[in-house]
Amino acid sequence: MEPITAQKVLKALNRITDNRIPAQDIPKKPGNHPFILEKNSGIPGKAILETPGLVVGNLDKPIATMGIGMTLTENMIELAGALDLDAILVHHPVADAASSGGVPLKPYLELYNLALFELHEAFHGLHPGIAFLHGHTVLDSDHCFGGIPGNIIFLGKALPEIHSAKDIIRRLNDFMAFEKEHEVLDAEIKIRACPSMKETTLTAVPKILNGAPDSPVENVLHIFPHTGFTARHLEQALDQYPETDTIITSISRVLETSDIVAKARSMGLTLIIGNSHAHEIFENGLPLACALRYELPHVELMMLRERVTAVPLKQFGNSKIQNYGQQMAKYLTNPLSNKKEI
Ligand SMILES: [Fe+2]
Ligand SMILES: [Fe+2]
Repeated sequence: MEPITAQKVLKALNRITDNRIPAQDIPKKPGNHPFILEKNSGIPGKAILETPGLVVGNLDKPIATMGIGMTLTENMIELAGALDLDAILVHHPVADAASSGGVPLKPYLELYNLALFELHEAFHGLHPGIAFLHGHTVLDSDHCFGGIPGNIIFLGKALPEIHSAKDIIRRLNDFMAFEKEHEVLDAEIKIRACPSMKETTLTAVPKILNGAPDSPVENVLHIFPHTGFTARHLEQALDQYPETDTIITSISRVLETSDIVAKARSMGLTLIIGNSHAHEIFENGLPLACALRYELPHVELMMLRERVTAVPLKQFGNSKIQNYGQQMAKYLTNPLSNKKEI
């Protein structure tokens, strides 16, 4: 059997995305391809360009093992390198040095013989999974609501098994295995003797922000607040879709004090916070990996999942490393110490 190469992975990604991967020879500039996009919130020097496809590596590189993750970090690179993977595919766009622990990305990946692919906006909107997980089917959608590219809204009809707000919360808990995650965190808390430890998926949890567990759900407006959705957009959406009885926010959340919540309350609409961004590895990463397994059955795929915990400083690590931290801090805080570089 001929080896699977990076070129073949690109072909598979093109089949999965309906040909949304730019040709390798297209200059990577905004405007050269619908999915070569600059992401920029106006912070000087921090803009990045999404370039779906092969970011680092040669087209003829054989790829027998590949890790699939959401956001590239030095942590992920170290794991992929230690596992001897041939490539990493991440969903979120990669930024040189920022995605690789502050050092230039290419030599770091080459050190471990890793190719790198990214696939973000070019993957969005290709499957109905996020709506499905949140208990509705999309009847209509707008990916540029209010004229803002990426400001996505879904108008959905509740699935037959969804009758009320609590059914959505229960569904998310079941699909995201909250019970198992609790068991894992409880065990870690016990082992580390760190009762205050928190973890993202168990802290940013689905909940009902307005309405009651029994509030009926039929017509859903599903929004993603981090994409630029405002209370004004909510008014506009409700004018267009007056049948809406339930608003779901997911990927990101709204604060209780936000104008969006105030508007929902004033109109008596149920408002549910769904999955957070920490669950996107299941929402988008898993379908992408399953599609790749179908397209490239001989490539061994590993899911690279990030799990972030928070602990109070005093409970971080063991006593030995705590002492180390305190000793090193003396160099940083003693005004009489020699501050020259060590
Ligand atoms: Fe995404
Ligand atoms: Fe994302």
